[in-house]
Amino acid sequence: MHLTPTRPEVLAIDGGSPVRKTFLPYSRQSIEDDDIQAVVDVLRSTWLSGGPKVDEFEQEFASRVGAKHAVTFSSGTAALHGAAFAAGLKPGDEAITSPLTFVATANCVLYQGARPVFADVASDTLNINPELVVERITTKTRAILPVAYGGHPADLDAILALAEQHGLTVVEDACHALGAKYRERRTGSIAHMSVFSFHPVKHITTGEGGMVTTDRADFAESLRRFRNHGISPEARQRHASGQWYYEMVALGYNYRLTDIACVLGISQLKKLEPNLARRRAIAARYTAAFSGIPGVVAPVVREYVNPAWHLYPIRLDLARLRAGRDQMLHALRAENIGATVHYIPVHLHPYYREQFGYVSGRYPVAEAAYERLMSLPIFHGMKEQDVEDVIAAVKKVARFYAG
Ligand SMILES: Cc1ncc(COP(=O)(O)O)c(C=O)c1O
Repeated sequence: MHLTPTRPEVLAIDGGSPVRKTFLPYSRQSIEDDDIQAVVDVLRSTWLSGGPKVDEFEQEFASRVGAKHAVTFSSGTAALHGAAFAAGLKPGDEAITSPLTFVATANCVLYQGARPVFADVASDTLNINPELVVERITTKTRAILPVAYGGHPADLDAILALAEQHGLTVVEDACHALGAKYRERRTGSIAHMSVFSFHPVKHITTGEGGMVTTDRADFAESLRRFRNHGISPEARQRHASGQWYYEMVALGYNYRLTDIACVLGISQLKKLEPNLARRRAIAARYTAAFSGIPGVVAPVVREYVNPAWHLYPIRLDLARLRAGRDQMLHALRAENIGATVHYIPVHLHPYYREQFGYVSGRYPVAEAAYERLMSLPIFHGMKEQDVEDVIAAVKKVARFYAG
């Protein structure tokens, strides 16, 4: 028999038919009837804000992650700001974080008038490299903010050991990592404070919303005050004790999360385990499917970690491809696959370049990763066909540009 080599299919970007007809976003929320009913019930109740659903959400969340305290905030960013305040950051201080993160991680340090200092990432997990953190510690350092990039926790034992040695507070940006495990411990119970986000692309959503978990009562108290104008005690405690009197004891903000949002959080939290299981199954399917595709490198998982898979960030082996990351990404989007990029390294944003004089080349591992990174769609509501479409499109585009 005579075998002719198969010709690569015409890409949608070049006028071919796309792999799927409708656009698949990189993530989206799943809201079911019981979520809607729970919100409706609160809308008919006495408390829309500052009520019992706030405590209930905090208690259920704390027990879910294995922390003593959980404090709600109006967003993950507000929660990071609260944690930066509770950690005592102030003008003149420095806090060390990863350059490969969403800008909010570093911005929360700036909100407190302190200076974010970056330490480059490890080339496998793309999480902050503890060996480089050591080099950045000075007498001004007060906190370290590791980020669980994509949902894979950073090397927290090494970071906590450094913190212990130098008297620093560790605030984990766990916005990607609800439900992750690190050496059999649950994310949210390991760092001095851990910060979560409930934005619609996350594992559970409250529309906008955030949480800080901690085992320290002093941090929890400080966080509660900070989210409520620096006022003590909170309105519902005053209501319960029949007191009107309150005092403002620190400069705080209105960062409260409503009962409407909290009840949605309670309802969504019940689905965390199936949501995680679905994300893990999708990640496993992708990793198996991509193992033989030239130019496509699956994310690395350290053997002591069970990631929460907020993202599925592949890296392109550009030496084996005739196209760069952006061209590949546009080709995938033309196939109706919502690939995107996480993240432009923080120090390369115009604001950081202008304020701090950063130039390219300062954090080479993060920068090299950035040029090759592409996040593929992953969310718990994805259907089998969606997953197969992503795999088919990646194969089609990578094979076209191979060589
Ligand atoms: C790593 C990281 N930190 C912080 C945040 C901020 O969370 P939010 O959008 O809830 O303010 C995000 C949001 O996507 C994030 O990805």
